[in-house]
Amino acid sequence: MEARNGGLPGLKATGYHVEPRASCQTVAPLVERKFHVLVGVTGSVAALKLPLLVSDLLDIPGLEVAVVTTERAKHFYSPQDVHVSIYSDTDEWEMWKCRFDPVLHIDLRKWADLMLVAPLDANTLGKVASGICDNLLTCVIRAWDRSKPLLFCPAMNTAMWEHPITAQQVDQLKAFGYIEIPCVAKKLVCGDEGLGAMAEVKTIVDKVKEIVSQRDGFQQN
Ligand SMILES: Cc1cc2nc3c(=O)[nH]c(=O)nc-3n(C[C@H](O)[C@H](O)[C@H](O)COP(=O)(O)O)c2cc1C
Repeated sequence: MEARNGGLPGLKATGYHVEPRASCQTVAPLVERKFHVLVGVTGSVAALKLPLLVSDLLDIPGLEVAVVTTERAKHFYSPQDVHVSIYSDTDEWEMWKCRFDPVLHIDLRKWADLMLVAPLDANTLGKVASGICDNLLTCVIRAWDRSKPLLFCPAMNTAMWEHPITAQQVDQLKAFGYIEIPCVAKKLVCGDEGLGAMAEVKTIVDKVKEIVSQRDGFQQN
């Protein structure tokens, strides 16, 4: 699958696979290019909404979108339904063969102007809160430039949400300067009812729009 919006600077992405061309090229100033949104997706059932989320983000003028996925998240969507580049662990390791080859998680954190982790499942929440970085997504987050916005949308079963560790970990992410888009209460896919469902796609996209419109030097056209 060809990426609709092209790949990262110097990289040619084809669905889950990325062919390296050159490393760490300079990212052009914002006034000369689109605003880059990197969507992180984890293994929550809410990852079913990834195609809709990406499609609605692409409706925001002036945005370029790429996705970084965990292996578990792949279970919930078809890459054919997501019309942007999707990067995963295989890309990271296939890309680097020797010195001066691109290091994907570093190139992605440089490329992105904003990171949106939607959904953020309990597992990756715990890893990010404690600094663990054992896959492409958590490496991007661990290397994140905290002067750029990082938004996260928790999504988990109500019992997981109500466990006391969850509030501690969400607070830790907020202490890092990341922005929570809170989960909502509804009947979950597992049949339970209560808090833990990912925020509505519209809520998420509206928040991205709000942040993008506040960025200095960014022209929406
Ligand atoms: C059908 C199914 C649905 C799941 N939904 C969620 C969920 O909504 N939230 C969550 O925290 N974990 C959920 N999980 C568990 C995660 O997929 C599991 O913790 C996984 O290891 C997460 O890996 P990742 O964080 O690397 O994506 C679900 C698992 C299955 C099998």
